[in-house]
Amino acid sequence: MSLEAEVLRLKEERNAVLLAHNYQRPEVQDIADFVGDSLYLSRKAREADRPVIVFAGVRFMAETAKILNPTRTVLLPDLRAGCALADSITAEQLRAWKADHPGAVVVAYINTSADVKAEADYCCTSSNAIQIVNAVPADREILFLPDLFLGDYVRRRTGRAMHLWVGDCPVHARMRPEDIDRARLEHPGAPVVAHPECGCATRALPYVDRILSTDGMVRFAEETRAPEVLVATEVGILHRMQKLNPGTRFTPLDARTICPYMKEIDLEDIRDSLALNQFAIEVPEPTASRARRALERMVAS
Ligand code: 13P
Ligand code: SF4
Repeated sequence: MSLEAEVLRLKEERNAVLLAHNYQRPEVQDIADFVGDSLYLSRKAREADRPVIVFAGVRFMAETAKILNPTRTVLLPDLRAGCALADSITAEQLRAWKADHPGAVVVAYINTSADVKAEADYCCTSSNAIQIVNAVPADREILFLPDLFLGDYVRRRTGRAMHLWVGDCPVHARMRPEDIDRARLEHPGAPVVAHPECGCATRALPYVDRILSTDGMVRFAEETRAPEVLVATEVGILHRMQKLNPGTRFTPLDARTICPYMKEIDLEDIRDSLALNQFAIEVPEPTASRARRALERMVAS
């Protein structure tokens, strides 16, 4: 039996749903029940009626699934699937930051640990950060964390006074404004789509208003008739974009944009995860309840 067939058999046997992020390996995306960005997958996890959720993504996504749907078994097939951005702030650091700004509203990106979410008022993802910040009463000070580039983008788009935590995703931050300038010279006329975590996102802003979450990029891919599109995010997404629109060439802004955490999970890990019930993600109380409040605001937006 092929590995794919074995995974599908075990998935049915365990009555599990397999969720995969847009950056996952192509073969993992191809057998998943749902593929998408972190907001879409959070909603799918929340409404999952099967007893087991296998999360092909990174740890903060599996924790979010467990918090939003606590009676389900949530499996992360490889515990090395972390996130450097989520590691850039601890709950202790956030408590100290809050103490310096009493009364401020805390907006935490989903790329954070459950402990950090428990200290937040709202969570957001790259696809709804602007709506979430706009929902905060205008007279309130905002602490936005942990991604500096996403925060700067949201601050420009909303005009809100926001304090930004100085954290970044090393995978996206290394794409600099000069990379966009160079790519546009080499690929004249090709539109650029960029994830807001990119170090080049603010340079893209004035001339291509295509700062998008990964699902936003997928929708753009479905609709565009351009012969070529430049893509500034993790290269795993190119598989889905190219599959949905074979008539357009999707070129990475930088082909070295690979997230090692997102590549940890392979088909063998998913098979073992289903066969051996590993690795079950737990979020203790009261952390889970406190984090749920901020996450429910995120999925409701
Ligand atoms: P999306 O929510 O846009 O999928 O982004 C998640 C992520 O980890 C980006 O690096
Ligand atoms: Fe985290 Fe960056 Fe990887 Fe996204 S691409 S999971 S933010 S390290």
